[in-house]
Amino acid sequence: MGLSRQDSFKSYERPEALQGKDLRPPASEKYSRSSEPDFPPLDMQLLEEGQKYYLITCRPCHGTLGRATGEVLAHGFLHPPKSFLEESQKKQSVFTVYHTLTDGRGEMLSVSDQLNRKQRWAVANYVKVLQKLPLPPSPTEVPCVE
Ligand code: HEC
Repeated sequence: MGLSRQDSFKSYERPEALQGKDLRPPASEKYSRSSEPDFPPLDMQLLEEGQKYYLITCRPCHGTLGRATGEVLAHGFLHPPKSFLEESQKKQSVFTVYHTLTDGRGEMLSVSDQLNRKQRWAVANYVKVLQKLPLPPSPTEVPCVE
């Protein structure tokens, strides 16, 4: 990857500064548009983090490419999520996706217990990038059974 990881570090994300620190916001600190936290910009480092946590946390339901082909659906999940590649989903801003991850939406539960604020932000950005990729029109991915 062309980007230098070292250069993309902000002071607050330097590994040594983060050691032993819990990055999660205090329980009282809820996301709202009026108090947007200072999220790191989208770069390769954030994207790689987003992909990592997407595959761990989201893929079981949403599938590797976001087409709702995760194995949880194969086990009869009652209300399957929409494919991320649907226009209505593509139109959502990264903040809306972040908000869904933070507070949940409909049958999509909050993942705040599993992912801290920066990880949720990274995953939301990853979803938005996934939606922009030139993916083939019909599902070709192999359902993940591990
Ligand atoms: C246990 C299964 C499950 C997991 C894990 C899960 N989701 Fe979902 N998600 C759903 C379901 C079901 C819906 C549909 C909710 C509805 O329409 O009521 C959904 C909906 C969504 C939506 C669309 C909300 C809307 O506007 O309709 C987004 C965005 C989303 N999920 C992102 C994610 C991301 C990113 C992750 C990983 C951090 C994740 N989800 C993990 C099941 C899951």
